[in-house]
Amino acid sequence: SQQHPFYATAAGQPQGGIRTVPQRHCVFMTFDLSTSVATDLQVLLARWSAAIAQLQAGKTVGSVEPAHGNGVGADTGEALDLGPASLTVTVGLGPGVFDERFGLADKRPAHLAAIPTLPSDNLDEQLTGGDLSLQACADDPQVAYHAVRDLARMARGTATVRWTVLGFGRASAGPSQSTPRNLMGFKDGTRNVTTDDEFDRFVWVDQPGDGAAWMRGGTYQVVRKIRMNLETWDADVVSDQQRVFGRTKIDGAPLSGGSEHTTPDFHAAHGDGTTKIDARSHIALAAHEANGGVKILRRGYNYTDGLNQYGQLDAGLLFAAYMNDPEHFERLQRKLGASDRLNEYVSHIGSAVFAVPPAPRKGSYIAEQLFR
Ligand code: HEM
Repeated sequence: SQQHPFYATAAGQPQGGIRTVPQRHCVFMTFDLSTSVATDLQVLLARWSAAIAQLQAGKTVGSVEPAHGNGVGADTGEALDLGPASLTVTVGLGPGVFDERFGLADKRPAHLAAIPTLPSDNLDEQLTGGDLSLQACADDPQVAYHAVRDLARMARGTATVRWTVLGFGRASAGPSQSTPRNLMGFKDGTRNVTTDDEFDRFVWVDQPGDGAAWMRGGTYQVVRKIRMNLETWDADVVSDQQRVFGRTKIDGAPLSGGSEHTTPDFHAAHGDGTTKIDARSHIALAAHEANGGVKILRRGYNYTDGLNQYGQLDAGLLFAAYMNDPEHFERLQRKLGASDRLNEYVSHIGSAVFAVPPAPRKGSYIAEQLFR
C-alpha cells in the first residue's frame, strides 16, 4: 500500500493530509492540554512527530509484545500487517496553545483565533474547540484509527481527548479521482482548490503579512461537524434537492447547463427572468464569484454516529477546510448561514480552528521553532 513520507526535505513544505490525494477514511480528534508547562507540550509534539513518522511508514510505535516482564505494550498492535495504507496524520495547534498558560502568546500565528458564533450555529459545547487536533487519513479505517488511538495514549498526562469524529467515503476528490458523493447523494468537491497557483494564493501561509516565519508552508484548518437531517432530505423531491445545491444530482452539472466541470453561469435566466441557478442555492452563495474571489480547500468526509435518541439516522458531513486565513471560512459561513437553502436540512453542531505548521525536517519535530 502507498506510503507518504512524514518529514520535509526542504523548509516550508506542508504536512500531509492537506494536498494529499484524499484517502478513503479519516479519524479526527481534538485534545485539551491538561498541563500548563510549555516543556510538556514540546515533548508531546516531539514524541508525536517521531511516532507519526513511524506510523506513516507502516511501522509500530514501539513494541507490541514487551521484551521482558509483564510490561504493557507500547503499540496496541491492531495495525500490524496492514501496511502504511496511505496514512497521513496532520497535527494542528488550537488558539489555547497561545494563551497565557505556556508563555507562547507572542508566537501566536497571525490569523489564529476562535471562530465567533455564526448565524445558524447550533454548536454542542462538547464538539467544539480543542488545543490540539489530529487528522488521520488512510485507505484502511483500522490504520487511521490505530494512529489516533496510539497517539492519544502517548498524550496521557499532557492532553485529554475532547471530541472525535470517524469519517468515511471522502467528500472531496484529488486530481486523479472522480468526484465522490456526500450523504445527500450529490457530488461534493467539484469546484475546489486544485492548481499550484490556487494553493499558493488561498491555502499556504507564505505571503508577507501572514505573520510568523515558522508558519511558512503551513495553513489553517477549520473543522465543522455538520449534521444532516437525512429523513427530511430523503422526503424532498429531487428537483427541489437540485435547486438547493444549484446542480443536478447524478452528473453534478450546474443548473445553468453543461456537464460537471462546466463553469456555472449564475446570470443565466429562464424566460420568466428567474435565474437557472437559484440565488439562494448553496453554490450561488459559496462560489468565489460571489465572495470577492475567495476560495477555500474543502477536504471533508461523511460521518455517521448510528441512530439518535429518536431512532433517526445520525449522520452528516465532517467538513474540513484549509485556508491561509480562517476569516475566509467565516465570511462564507456567515453568508451561507443567513440564506443558504441547504440550512433547512443541516445543522452545524461542532466547530474548531487550528493552525497547521509546516512539516518538520528529519531530526526536528512539528512547531519546534515555538520553543527556541
Ligand atoms: C460546493 C455540499 C457545507 C463551501 C458544494 C457542492 C456541494 C456541497 C454538493 C457542489 C459541488 C462542489 O463544487 O463541490 C455541501 C454540504 C454541506 C456543505 C452537504 C454541509 C453539510 C459547506 C460549508 C462551506 C461550503 C460549511 C463553507 C463555509 C462550499 C464552496 C463550494 C461548495 C466554496 C464551491 C462553490 C462553487 O464555487 O461553485 N458544497 N457543502 N460548503 N461548498 Fe459546500
